[in-house]
Amino acid sequence: MSATTNIAITPGDGIGPEVVNQAVNCLVLLRQRFKLDLDWHPFPWPSHRWHQQHGESMPADALEQLGAFDAILLGALGDPGPVTDHNRYLLSDSVSLAPLLQIRKGFDQWVCERPARLLPGARQYLADDRARDIDMLVIRENSEGEYVSQGGRLRQGTPHEVATQIEVFTHFASERIIRYGFEQARARAIQRQQHHQTRQFQTLDGRVCDSQVCLVTKRNALRYWGDLYTEVFERMSLEYPDVATHHELVDAACMKFVQSPWTFDVVVASNLQGDILTDLAAVLSGGMGVAPSCNLNPTDPTMPSMFEPTHGSAPDIAGQGLADPTAMLFTTARMLDWLAHKDPIMAAAGLALFEATAADLAQHGGKRRSTAEIGAAVCARLKA
Ligand code: NAD
Ligand code: IPM
Ligand code: MN
Repeated sequence: MSATTNIAITPGDGIGPEVVNQAVNCLVLLRQRFKLDLDWHPFPWPSHRWHQQHGESMPADALEQLGAFDAILLGALGDPGPVTDHNRYLLSDSVSLAPLLQIRKGFDQWVCERPARLLPGARQYLADDRARDIDMLVIRENSEGEYVSQGGRLRQGTPHEVATQIEVFTHFASERIIRYGFEQARARAIQRQQHHQTRQFQTLDGRVCDSQVCLVTKRNALRYWGDLYTEVFERMSLEYPDVATHHELVDAACMKFVQSPWTFDVVVASNLQGDILTDLAAVLSGGMGVAPSCNLNPTDPTMPSMFEPTHGSAPDIAGQGLADPTAMLFTTARMLDWLAHKDPIMAAAGLALFEATAADLAQHGGKRRSTAEIGAAVCARLKA
């Protein structure tokens, strides 16, 4: 493995390249300021444009090429926009988004981490002022479940067509994601202690803990994996008596995310339910423009993890310079922090980028600014 940390940059479609440009501007400054042994390589794929030119979204050896990097920084895939261009090259979502799922699965990025914290300056959509205390981490199972892509279409195009879409839940993957949730809850409690902060969560037997994991399922209707998750969760909770546990059915979880989101700490959910919950959680933290995300392989450091905001290609605003790059910048900060396992100095660079982006949000959040304006303001803070 080379000493240099190498990042594959895949801007993708729509607002992807617009927000990635701002992240690259920040990386240039961070590399200089922290003397990082950091390099990156931009890829024109996966993308609609590549598909238009080559008849496929990415080359056959794409995973092999990406596998040589320490991390992947992805903008967004999907409808390239702008929606006013009726002649734009459009693919069905299942084609344009397939590379995303191939990369997540190919590198066994089995954790999707989506923090939702209402930072100062971010838009507060909920009227209740306790919304200021929203600070949750949604952990989405990212390797199987509803996303295994197994099934098919029988008698396609006839009135007797049958479509099957199989869900697969293994004990192995259920156990590792739930354990990851408990470990994150503990780590967050320690972090709060270090910052002289505490949070309190009540257990069903009346004890008070300083962290919590809420498991989300739909076990009243999807009983097989719901029961598997519940049993693993209950068994594992015995190993973490310091962490309060809690279960919500996904429909009630949606309701409580709006009614009292400040009562959640760590949330563990399946692939699809986690996907849906995290668009909602993104809005709780100020909107799609500020919500970071990452796909991690915490078990095999030779596999690159992938960092991408929660949002998509936003065809409704693509090409207009209106996309908020904040989510991308927080995501890039998380990538640098993750890369500290290879080179510890990356953590300082990640923190500097997080703090500059958060300070910019605190000062200007709420004002209408262009992608370039926000990017330049964060860069100015990095230079100061
Ligand atoms: P989206 O996240 O692209 O957009 C939803 C809404 O949020 C839009 O109104 C958009 O303008 C707004 N928005 C998103 N990012 C923003 C930003 N940075 N700043 C300001 N506003 C922002 O979701 P969608 O419209 O459902 O999907 C569009 C395409 O993106 C689809 O093809 C979808 O499959 C794809 N998608 C890709 C990813 C990904 O690449 N990771 C994630 C989600 C959706
Ligand atoms: C996300 C996206 C993807 C997902 C889609 C585009 C396949 O919505 O990253 O949240 O569902 O994982
Ligand atoms: Mn999503």
